[in-house]
Amino acid sequence: MIIRIIYIFCFLILNANFLVSKEVNVFSSRHYESDYKLYDFFTKKTGIKVNVITGKSKLLEKRVIEEGSSCKGDLLILADAGRMGSAESKGLFQKFNSDILKKKIPENLRTDYWYSIAKRARIFFYNSANIKNKDLKNIDYLDLADEKWNGDILIRASNNIYNQSLVAYMIEVYGEKKATEWIKGLVKNMARSPQGNDRAQILGVAAKEGKIAVANTYYHSLMMSGKKGTEQKKAAEKVSPIFPGQNSKGTHINISGAGLLKHSPNKKNAIKLLEFLLSDKAQKHIVNNTFEYPISQNVNPHPIVSRMGKNFKENNTISISSYFKWQSKAYKIMLENGWK
Ligand SMILES: [Fe+2]
Repeated sequence: MIIRIIYIFCFLILNANFLVSKEVNVFSSRHYESDYKLYDFFTKKTGIKVNVITGKSKLLEKRVIEEGSSCKGDLLILADAGRMGSAESKGLFQKFNSDILKKKIPENLRTDYWYSIAKRARIFFYNSANIKNKDLKNIDYLDLADEKWNGDILIRASNNIYNQSLVAYMIEVYGEKKATEWIKGLVKNMARSPQGNDRAQILGVAAKEGKIAVANTYYHSLMMSGKKGTEQKKAAEKVSPIFPGQNSKGTHINISGAGLLKHSPNKKNAIKLLEFLLSDKAQKHIVNNTFEYPISQNVNPHPIVSRMGKNFKENNTISISSYFKWQSKAYKIMLENGWK
């Protein structure tokens, strides 16, 4: 009898272990090799294996929708608050409660459905051989429409999500009417028809094709690091950053974010991973490899990023969830006013 009880007991214990899932499935639009190393840290710490599927955000979104309740994805990780908002609006995420995430992530950088894991700022770059620093003192996003910058602004196309989020931000801060006037002036001031990515705008300023480039902070740091080759490093060295809005509303911030998918089969593990991404160790690893800004106050940016600017004034008075709210309106106004 006793042997039988022991046998049943052992059987139950063993099966209980099998029932506890030891994996988590991440769908990510981030293309950083370093993210895999980050997941390895997590696996070593917890024993939970991380399976990663990468792809463009729209394709990942489509896949999650099509697979519905049979979708095996647990966490969806995307760059840009506009994209996170898009996924939220389609009902892709589920709410959950995490005091850790609430404590670590400022309120304006999360919603009930998704959380920021790293930050970036969309700022200006100039070539001091081309323009004097004093001319840029206290410059603001609104100044991009000032006629004194006629033919001087380098910025990428309107179909780019970073620009759509910037315009959405302008609508949120200044209202649709003022934002529309701003776009009109900005389009008039463009140095060329929008072309290339953010790094191409920085290269343009280095080559004096324009005086002010608009780009995300990490692109310049990436060029400075030499990871994009000597030519780009040399170009980046010719260029200086300037954080707009320091004397007004602050600098426009955007994020990389993550949300728990609605039909997540490994919910506990997914929450554990998300909380891990906000740990100091993970934050340090992220910013040291991607040149983004940390969310955690305990972690410093990469030294190259710190040199660019560490203690600038962010606009943290509005929620970044507003970028999606105005996204389609922003794109419509951009196209209507000639932003190619
Ligand atoms: Fe990017």
